[in-house]
Amino acid sequence: MAASAELVVPARRYSDRKYHFEENQRVWRTSWLLVGSTDQVVEPGDFVEARFGLAPTVVVRGDDGRLRGFENVCQHQGAPLCVGSGGGLTEIECKNHRWTWDLRGRLKAVDFGAPVDDGQDIPLPPLVVETWGPLVFANFDPGVGPLADGITTLAATIDDAGIDPDGLRCRSIVSTLTGGNWKSLLDGVTAIGEVPDLGARQFPDLAVRADATTGTVTIVRVRPHVSIDRAVFTVLAFEPRPRGAPEAGPRPLDITLKEDDEVPAESGVDPALIAYARSQLDAVPPTDDLVVDPSAAPELAALHAWLDERLSPPSG
Ligand code: FES
Repeated sequence: MAASAELVVPARRYSDRKYHFEENQRVWRTSWLLVGSTDQVVEPGDFVEARFGLAPTVVVRGDDGRLRGFENVCQHQGAPLCVGSGGGLTEIECKNHRWTWDLRGRLKAVDFGAPVDDGQDIPLPPLVVETWGPLVFANFDPGVGPLADGITTLAATIDDAGIDPDGLRCRSIVSTLTGGNWKSLLDGVTAIGEVPDLGARQFPDLAVRADATTGTVTIVRVRPHVSIDRAVFTVLAFEPRPRGAPEAGPRPLDITLKEDDEVPAESGVDPALIAYARSQLDAVPPTDDLVVDPSAAPELAALHAWLDERLSPPSG
């Protein structure tokens, strides 16, 4: 094929910490991030947390019923605040020296419960939060446009299957920590054997499948780990909300599998997806730049073309 049609992907994009930091600023802190499901944050005090590489997020249902997002970092010395998902929060407390914020992100107490001095205003950095169907998204950029403009592929995939997103409930969220850079999981560049059908890509980190026959939706989310050579692979399974069922259904199963754990049948998650993630545990990043024929590897080409618009050019 003509050289002009080829795409060059720098190998350093999979292994160089410089790119990890650049992605943090230009990808994760500017994109809509799927933090979790509305079914995880139904009651005041419910929360869900997800870290996208160096961009930590938490979304909390406030005592006024409103969803709020925060950077999940203690403003004292940077420790993480919330872990995983759950409920019953009346405040957000750091376990280290017990600085505490209320569910609206206002500082309530400092060192080991000491009162806040007059004028000591150190709120949790807020995130923009929007929901779409059963999905909760957050964005670090206070000037970001509407969520609907950022999830067009995801929305079209579900719409094309004739599925009403507002009629879905989250059945389960199954995660596993795996090896390889997050991009490898989405572009299949270090895959051993066949890559299962992940679905249509919603950049940066999602793939979506919608089944018109069963009315179910599967979303794969691949988050970068703090370390550039690790990733968190998550499958979110959605099913039709039973007719007449209350909006607040049972809390979804939310588990992180260890290396040998079986995928629970009740999760409704395709074990082939988790097997694929596990096949990347010992993945070695590419050592040479990749010269890609977009027609032979459309997902890879599309992901890196999208990244090229945001990151340093391939020759950089
Ligand atoms: S690091 Fe959180 S209170 Fe000190």
